[in-house]
Amino acid sequence: MKLINKKNKTYTQVFHLFTEENWTKTAKNFNKNISTFFTGKKNEIFVNAHEEGITYFIGLGKSTLQNFEIQQVANKFSQGQKKNLHAVPTLVLADFLTEKQFEEFVKGLLIGTYNYPFEKTHAFWSPKFEIHFENVSQKKLDTISERALALSNGQIACQDWLNKPANLKKPDTFGLYLKNLAKKHDLKYTSFNRKKCEELGLGAYLSVNQGSAYDAAFTILEYKTTVKNAKTIGLVGKCVLFDTGGISLKNPDNMHYMKSDMGGATAVLGTLIYAAEMQLPVNIIAILPITDNAISENAFLPSDVITAYNGKTIEVLNTDAEGRMILADGLSYLAKNYKTDCLIDLATLTGSSVRMFGDTCGALFSNNEEFKNLLIKTGDKTNQRLWNLPLWDVWKDDIQSDVADLKNISMKPIGDCIVAAKFLEQFIENHPKWAHLDIAGVAFGNVGYAKEKAATGFGVQLLADLIENYH
Ligand code: BES
Ligand code: MG
Ligand code: ZN
Repeated sequence: MKLINKKNKTYTQVFHLFTEENWTKTAKNFNKNISTFFTGKKNEIFVNAHEEGITYFIGLGKSTLQNFEIQQVANKFSQGQKKNLHAVPTLVLADFLTEKQFEEFVKGLLIGTYNYPFEKTHAFWSPKFEIHFENVSQKKLDTISERALALSNGQIACQDWLNKPANLKKPDTFGLYLKNLAKKHDLKYTSFNRKKCEELGLGAYLSVNQGSAYDAAFTILEYKTTVKNAKTIGLVGKCVLFDTGGISLKNPDNMHYMKSDMGGATAVLGTLIYAAEMQLPVNIIAILPITDNAISENAFLPSDVITAYNGKTIEVLNTDAEGRMILADGLSYLAKNYKTDCLIDLATLTGSSVRMFGDTCGALFSNNEEFKNLLIKTGDKTNQRLWNLPLWDVWKDDIQSDVADLKNISMKPIGDCIVAAKFLEQFIENHPKWAHLDIAGVAFGNVGYAKEKAATGFGVQLLADLIENYH
């Protein structure tokens, strides 16, 4: 795809965008047949084949619509029509769109081409697919195109890895991909195997990995800017490639969904791709503790007491609460070894957050009021929403253990997403600006491109926007 300031006189493919209001005003200029079928409502598409070619009338809905809604409409249009579209110069008619809104439209078109498994065979990915637009200068169009491509590359990589079946994403496969990605984007790549993790004392991470048939891969990716005095952002993404629950085995009915237990890691992955392609003026330290949570003769057992990287001991009462174990070491390793301005972890952590919010938002926990508000605001703007839950100290009472500093679950059947967050807080080494995003309900769910639940890309646009505006 290429964005070009309008130059042709005639086009065989036209996207004509309308809000309900401007359709009401201009409908009279069009063939009467069209206004019988088209009203400009959100997601309405009318295909008008005529002598010179095809015009797609695209309804945006009310003129008060938010920018993210334009991306939604374009995404849906792209998903629905992609088989019919041709890689030819295409005119977009929408003189009322602001630059930002046109950018959202292009992002939606690109992300809407996604299907699992992803292949860039769609017309949009051809350089012959020129999108001509009159109202924005060529210089601005170049910026928009760069941003839209970086974002869609990030989000598509995120979705594609999450959607992969468990047998196609073993630690070595995913590790090799990350290593190559690091090479391509000049990221620093470090990965600790089991032996190295033992030396370092990453005991909480290893407790989960010890039952795995695959070696440990506690992976660190660093993106560095050349810009001086840039902020440094710490990211930790839960990367359980498949969660059987371990010895505290999960019910089999929905166990196949647990290929999505790396949703935190894929959100971080997509963000890194965006930051690197955009050469954002920030530093990012990303930790992905990669493992599966498997059953074997070596698997950790309920009642085990293990020592985490920061020296705290944890009584394991449920091996299915593995996410908080690997994140504990991810967080304290990052906090102890790197100086960061903020620290964010993302994880498909608890069924409790799914029961609480369904797919409407992620659960947000933070020890910093200002940071919390910034995250909520960014979530509203990108439609990857977050809602705040408490970290009150009373919740810590429930994870006091008789035989260790902490236990990994509460015995009460309440508020597990809060309990898990409170548990993680014990591993941030007093970092003053930390946020935990429990995205179990939003990373994987109903999507336009698949019959079953699939990856939503949650987190990429949220973090990309946050980081881009974080100075
Ligand atoms: N990966 C799951 C959480 C999850 C549940 C993600 C549903 C996506 C959808 C996590 O590892 C887990 O098993 N959590 C347990 C914790 C419990 C044993 C305290 C849960 O939420 O049931
Ligand atoms: Mg689990
Ligand atoms: Zn899990």
